This record gives sequence, structure tokens and C-alpha cells, in this order.
Amino acid sequence: MKFYMAPLEGITGYIFRNAHYDYFHPADKYFTPFITPGLNSRRTSKALRDVLPENNRGPEIVPQILTNRADEFIYTEKQLMDMGYQEINLNLGCPSGTVVGKGRGSGFLAFRDDLNRFLEEIYRNAEVKISIKTRLGKDSPEEFDALLDIYNQYPLEELIIHPRTREEFYRGKPNLEMFRLGLEKSRCPVCYNGNIFQKADYEDFCRRFPEVTSVMIGRGLIADPALLDIILGEREIVDKPLLRQFHDRIYGDYADMLSGEVPLLYKMKELWNYMICLFTNAKKYGKKIRKTQSLKNYNEIINTLFETEEIIWGAGFGANGLV
Ligand SMILES: Cc1cc2nc3c(=O)[nH]c(=O)nc-3n(C[C@H](O)[C@H](O)[C@H](O)COP(=O)(O)O)c2cc1C
Repeated sequence: MKFYMAPLEGITGYIFRNAHYDYFHPADKYFTPFITPGLNSRRTSKALRDVLPENNRGPEIVPQILTNRADEFIYTEKQLMDMGYQEINLNLGCPSGTVVGKGRGSGFLAFRDDLNRFLEEIYRNAEVKISIKTRLGKDSPEEFDALLDIYNQYPLEELIIHPRTREEFYRGKPNLEMFRLGLEKSRCPVCYNGNIFQKADYEDFCRRFPEVTSVMIGRGLIADPALLDIILGEREIVDKPLLRQFHDRIYGDYADMLSGEVPLLYKMKELWNYMICLFTNAKKYGKKIRKTQSLKNYNEIINTLFETEEIIWGAGFGANGLV
């Protein structure tokens, strides 16, 4: 099985990816949060900072692009190719209102003729491998069949399926029936993404789909960065001192990158929205972390958390009723 780290905008930037790679069983590929390109080179350069080779020395990185314009995609693809990247991922899954409103991400799935033209142009001009991360459709899973007919016309490196519609955002359970349709019908390799939060979720999935050879994990791997170690039988539970080191590394790297307390606190709070699930008394500490307004107070809370609370056996994203 190949394991990919899913992109989570605002969380899995290079600081998180590099720390994960250094401290835990690394993912086979790390997909970057989306880059929204512009033909204005200044805007694009800013968007590309996360993928600059000097920031990404260890892990295998797949940069992701979010656009519905073939010229923008091709322009950015060229820049990424010049940096040495050999695979690029197209985001056809983002459900956010502003993105969908512009007909991008999962919003693009509703415009099948435009999508087909876009794909025709980017694959005709492709100089690197292009994979696609898709949802089942914008409004209904019934859209997926027609989307697969479109995807099957092009040489996709891989089709990563998050089997929900845009309307579902991240609610409910992934639609495994429709995932099966994708697996059976797709001409390219298929990767599964969605709700693998614990080892048992992974094992259930493998029992149901033994033919799948790659899975992408997002929230589960942020909540428990040792999830791959656990899935692979290298650890039974995340080691608390190691988690503390991982936290401190991320904290230190953000402190070097950001100026002022507020942005650093904001970044750390985002991480704790997920990671707190692992601890006893998670609700109480989650609230304290969310409320704190100063780094001094933040550090005190984190010190007490690590000193007095324990990691819960079998915990992961969604444990403790915290989602
Ligand atoms: C806060 C947040 C940010 C995300 N950002 C991206 C993104 O930039 N690109 C993308 O393809 N998916 C993005 N996703 C979706 C995840 O990559 C993934 O598909 C989703 O979380 C389902 O997988 P999981 O159940 O393993 O978390 C985001 C999800 C969340 C919750």
C-alpha cells in the first residue's frame, strides 16, 4: 500500500510536512494545499513559496493546483517543472463557497463541457504527470458516472477519489458504493481518500477493497501524526515525548517564519483542533487552547497538558466526540 498525506490548507504547509517526515513514518507522497495561480507572476510567486525546493528537501511532494483556466494551469505547471517537480495534482474537490462560486474545485464538476475542454488542453500540453483529486459531483453522486467518462479520455497519473459530493462537505460517511464504481470504471490507478482516522478504519477499508494500492489520509494523520507507524505495526500508540518534540519543532519553525504572537497562536490552535483528540481531558484542554490570547499562557497550557494528561489508547480524529 502507498500512503499519501492529504493536503489541508492552512495546516499541511512545508513546516508541518517536514516535521512529519522527520519524526514519524513518512508518507510516500505529501500533496500540498492548493496553489491558485495567476498569470501575474508576483501573485504566483507568493503562492509558490510553499513548494520552493529549499523548503522541501526531504519528503516527496506533489504540488496541487486549483484553477479552471488551462492557461493558468499550464503556466504554473511550467514553473513547477522548472523547480524539478514531475507530478502535479489538479484540485476538483474543494467545497468552499468562494472557490465553488468561481466554478473551481468541486464547483468545476458542474460544468462538464468546460471541464472536458480544460482537461483536453492541459493533457495535450502536459510535460509532467497530472493526477486528479475529485469528489463524486457537485450536487449529487449520480454525476460521478459522467465525470468518469470524461476522466477516462485522458492519461491521468492517478485518480484520487474523495467519495462525497460538494453538498456534503465533510459530513456523513464517504459513499463507498460510488467509490467502487470509480474503482471499476476508471482506466487509471485509483486512490481512496476519506475518514481513515484509526488503524481499524484502514483495516476495514482493506478488507472491503483489497485491490486498492494507495490511500490518502488527511485529518487522521494530523490528529495522530503516528497513524502510519500504528497502521504498519511499528508502534501501538504515539509516544508522548515524541509528540512533544514534534509539537516543539512545528512551534519553533512557525515562530521563525511568522512575526508576532497572533499568527503563531493561530497556527498552533489550528493544529490542536485535531491533535487534542489524542489526550485525556481533551474537551477541557481544547477549550483552554482555543481561548488563550497569549503565548505565555499557551505554553503553560501545553506544558500542563503534556505533564498531567495521557494519550488515550486507540484515540484518533473524532475520538472523545470532539469533531
Ligand atoms: C481544513 C481543510 C483544508 C483542506 N484543504 C485542502 C486542499 O488545499 N486541497 C485539497 O485537495 N483538499 C483539501 N482538503 C480536503 C482533504 O485533503 C481531504 O480530502 C479531506 O479532509 C478528507 O480526507 P480525510 O477524511 O482523510 O481527512 C481540506 C480539508 C480540510 C478539513
